[in-house]
Order: sequence, then C-alpha cells, then structure tokens
Amino acid sequence: MASLLVFVSLFVCFGVVYSQLLCEDGFCRTYGFEVGCTAAAEHCRINNATHSGIWLLSPTTCNCCDYCLPFIVEGDHCTLGGPGTGTTVGRCGDGLTCVAEENGNFCRRMESDCHSAQDDYDARHESGQIGSLEQRPGCNGKGRYQHYHCVPTQTCFCQSDEGERLFGEVVHQGAVTERNMHCGCSRLHDKIKKSISPGVKLPVVGLRCTSDGNFNPVQCLNNECYCVDEITGAIEGDEKIDLETEPISELSCYDESLDLFPSNTGTAPYNYTSPCLEDMKERIAFLEESEQDGFNVDFFSSVPECLPDATYGRIVRTWNGTKICVDERGQPIEGYEAMPGTKEYEEMNCNCAVTTQLMASLTEKPVCCSNGNFRQIQCRRGACRCVDSDGRQVGVESTDVTELPCYGGNEEWRIC
Ligand SMILES: *[C@@H]1O[C@H](CO)[C@@H](O)[C@H](O)[C@H]1NC(C)=O
Ligand SMILES: *[C@@H]1O[C@H](CO)[C@@H](O)[C@H](O)[C@H]1NC(C)=O
Ligand SMILES: *[C@@H]1O[C@H](CO)[C@@H](O)[C@H](O)[C@H]1NC(C)=O
Repeated sequence: MASLLVFVSLFVCFGVVYSQLLCEDGFCRTYGFEVGCTAAAEHCRINNATHSGIWLLSPTTCNCCDYCLPFIVEGDHCTLGGPGTGTTVGRCGDGLTCVAEENGNFCRRMESDCHSAQDDYDARHESGQIGSLEQRPGCNGKGRYQHYHCVPTQTCFCQSDEGERLFGEVVHQGAVTERNMHCGCSRLHDKIKKSISPGVKLPVVGLRCTSDGNFNPVQCLNNECYCVDEITGAIEGDEKIDLETEPISELSCYDESLDLFPSNTGTAPYNYTSPCLEDMKERIAFLEESEQDGFNVDFFSSVPECLPDATYGRIVRTWNGTKICVDERGQPIEGYEAMPGTKEYEEMNCNCAVTTQLMASLTEKPVCCSNGNFRQIQCRRGACRCVDSDGRQVGVESTDVTELPCYGGNEEWRIC
C-alpha cells in the first residue's frame, strides 16, 4: 500500500512539473502548434440524433488541437481495437457496444437489465398494455439504470445502477425536477455500502446528504468542517473551521434550513452532529473497549445504521412497542402507526407517508395505509390502478376496480 502511494505521488509530481515546464498558457499559440491541426470531426458541433460526439484532449503536443471523437450510431461499422485494426475514428454511441459478427463489427444495443426493462415496456406499449402513469425505465450510456426514477403526479427518487430505490426524494414537477435530480451523495453512499462495507464490521460513515440525495454543503471530518459542491461533493474554496473554537454557523455555506439538528447555542467546543451519529459513535466505542478487555463481542448488528442524512430513518419504534412514521426531523407524520405482531408492522416502509408529506401543499395525493405504506389500489379521476411499494403504477388502469389484477375480491381494498 505504501509503495503504491509513493508511486502515485511521484506520478502526480512529475505530471505537474512536466506541464508547468512545457505547456504553460499560450504555448500553442506562441510556438505555432495550432497551425498543424486537422479539422475536428463535425459531430460534436452538430450534436443531433445521428451526429454526435465528445470533445476530448487531442493526442498532440500540449493538447493544442480541438479533438472530437464521433459516436457511431446503431447498426454502423465499428472497430474493436487491437493490432492491425487501424486507428479508431469513433466509438459506439451511448447504450451501444461494438459486436463482432460474420460480416464485420457493428454497433449494437448493449444487453442489460435496464435495456430489457425498456424492451418489456416497449412491447407492452405496442399492445396497449401501458398504464397512463407508467414511466418508461430510463437507462444511461452504459446501459445501466439512470440515477433517478420519477412517478408522474408524485415524486422522483434516486436509484442505483441496478434500479434499486435509494435515499433521496423530491416532488415531481416536470422536466425541471428531472434536470435537477443528481443523487450524487446518495449514490456514493450506496457504492460505499456495497464495495467497502462488506469487509468492514462497523458502518462506514460517508459524506452527509440532503433529502433530495445531493451533498449537504457543510461537511465535517472529526472537528474540521468545510464546504462542498452540492452536486459533485468536491471541496469548495479553502475555508475551514475548527469546531473546538468556532460554531458551524461561521461557515459561509452553512444554511440553517438544511440543519436538521441545530446546536448553535452554547459555548466552545461546538458540535455538528446528529443523535443517530452520536449513538453510533457511543456504541462503537463501547464495542471496541469490550474487545480490548478481552470480551468476545459480536454485537455489531446492534450499531445503528444512520441514513445518508444522518437521521435514524423514517420508521421509529416507540416506547410502547409500536412503530410510527417520522419525518427527517424525527416528528411523527400524521399518526401512521403499526402494532407489533401484525402484518402491517412487518411490512411497514412508510414510503407513502413520506411521499404525501413532501406533497403536502398539493391537492391530489396518493392514499396511504395506516402503516404509511402505499395502498395497493390508487384511484384518480375516475380510474383505479395497481401500484408497487414505491407507488409506481403496474399495468393498465380500469374504471372497474374488480378488474384490476391486484383486487383482493372484496371491498376491503379501501381500508388497509
Ligand atoms: C444531423 O445533422 C446532419 C448534418 O447536418 C444531417 O445530415 C442529419 O440528417 C441530421 N440528423 C437528424 C436526425 O436531424
Ligand atoms: C451539541 O451542542 C449542543 C448545544 O451546545 C448540546 O446541547 C449537545 O449536547 C451537544 N451534543 C454533543 C453530542 O456534544
Ligand atoms: C405509542 O406511543 C406513541 C408515542 O410514543 C403514541 O403516539 C401512540 O399513540 C402510542 N400508541 C398506543 C397504541 O398507545
């Protein structure tokens, strides 16, 4: 590990030195390196359905030329690279891959779960089996699921490459919402959980997120706090404060409305934490101590896993043994509650409770069960439809409830 770090830092040093010596500002113009450039492919400038590409650094001295790598469209020739195959003049466009066939190599649609889901949607669309509020799955350039999913008339939420729902939800208000869904923070949490955590006994704490899945502009490492970009998570500026002496509100990016657990009162040393994070820290300290004392502790499952926004989650166990739905500040949502030992208790997810709370100012809201889950049958403007646990329509709607596949055979569908 140490040698790898040394290697990386040497590499970085040489890279910097090299570029400072040779490729300073104006180098290309001063030494006439721009003159010899061949015209860049037109694709990047046109950028329509058939002609598109990506601007890259040109493989010339100090990257003096403009360089556009064209995207090859579906069904056109491509090269797989390798000796004797000539130079590559483009690559297959988003969602496509170069496939070797009898008559040569061609760009074809990638095979992936997301593309299969799209194909399934398209086939049902052809035969008129799509519900009016169903949304075609969105895939990204690598054929994976795009980073969010929107439920028309309700909310958009973050999702993983595999299409699993992740933390982060906002009210769906058309194309603007879709453009503003980045989900960088919640997806980072998911990646950490999947790639690092399996080998680590204790929960790994990532950067703090806001409820929409973006990065909280304020981040702290131990006692040191700094500002980050909400979309990329990259550190912004060189402003830093030390909680030993200064409160978090001294940081220019601090926004009181985003602080779920304000603690600006009191005197130094200050803190910027949450009950869940404190609880976690305490239990980890206890476990480590027990281990040092020679106890064989296997209570790691008792360490709470906080949500990416540092809260305990939207389901909370009460003193009397029931579970209730709460918002990000821990306040109960409208009285959703489930009694222990019931099916409602076991299956409680509070998804509908949270969605309807986000939609509080809107008139048409989904109907929730008493445990805060989505009612399986939702009705709107004279037609009813089946929905999944995230409130997504499944199959065609009907004006006759009894014709829905999720209809249970009696009037009890109304109450749940
Ligand atoms: C894209 O632009 C090119 C060049 O202007 C043109 O030949 C082509 O038909 C355009 N394609 C579409 C789908 O508009
Ligand atoms: C954080 O600061 C607040 C106010 O100063 C205090 O009430 C609270 O106990 C502190 N929390 C921790 C974990 O130190
Ligand atoms: C259980 O406790 C919560 C608050 O902790 C309260 O809101 C709820 O009404 C109680 N439920 C019952 C059945 O007593």
